[in-house]
Amino acid sequence: MAFITSEALADTGYVVLDDDTSPIDPAEWRDLEYVGWRSSGITRFAPLTSYAGDIDCNGFWNRTPPRTDKDGVWIDAQVAIAPTLQSRALEPGAGIGRCRVIELQPNDYADAIYNLHQDDNNRLNEPGTGWVVRGYVNLTDDTESMLILRSDRFDPATEVRLPLHAGSRIVIDTQRFWHAVWHRGTAPRYALITSWTSGPELDAYIAAHHGDPHPPTVELDPRLVEAAQVEMHRRIEERRRAFEAQGIVMEPPVDMSV
Ligand SMILES: [Fe+2]
Repeated sequence: MAFITSEALADTGYVVLDDDTSPIDPAEWRDLEYVGWRSSGITRFAPLTSYAGDIDCNGFWNRTPPRTDKDGVWIDAQVAIAPTLQSRALEPGAGIGRCRVIELQPNDYADAIYNLHQDDNNRLNEPGTGWVVRGYVNLTDDTESMLILRSDRFDPATEVRLPLHAGSRIVIDTQRFWHAVWHRGTAPRYALITSWTSGPELDAYIAAHHGDPHPPTVELDPRLVEAAQVEMHRRIEERRRAFEAQGIVMEPPVDMSV
């Protein structure tokens, strides 16, 4: 039996919605409780939901008993600080798994390329139910930053770059795409990330906000891209050798979040 997937994502696997133009008080993300959680780059996370309503960023499949990335339990103390962020996550009416704010420190393009990863949103997910995808709302106005997507991790010709100004909204099958953020700011980037269950509710939300599966991509100097490719392969080889020296076979990076 197949998973229930979103028709809106069938074409390219991602859509850019029209901007969220309702202001959100920055205190809603600044005042949350953050925990150190290694992801793509130097990051911390402030969970709004978790496996059991505690302050925890772990995949639900790592808790006991394990479950897939659905039925996140709201964390009362965090929701009290960020009611508007909660309302954004609830807006589609789709099922919610993990929901959290990410804080990402500035990085460079080569870092982002090295950090490309696929998410693991559908571990333990049951065929016949909804496929889990990710919704992003950029909270800070990171006009020079971009979300990078590649269908082939090592092929820059497959790369799409989506701008991350305040209120930009993107829905992506992040298990399908290699992805990471190049954050060019001088202060941290904050974004709301929600695991949504695909189905008619999510489709209606995407349609209501004019989800575009063919948005414009940010252009970059090809020399910058080529240099980052060389640097990515150098870092991967360096890491492989470091692991090899310890007798460890390196696995590709998965289950991280941008
Ligand atoms: Fe991710």
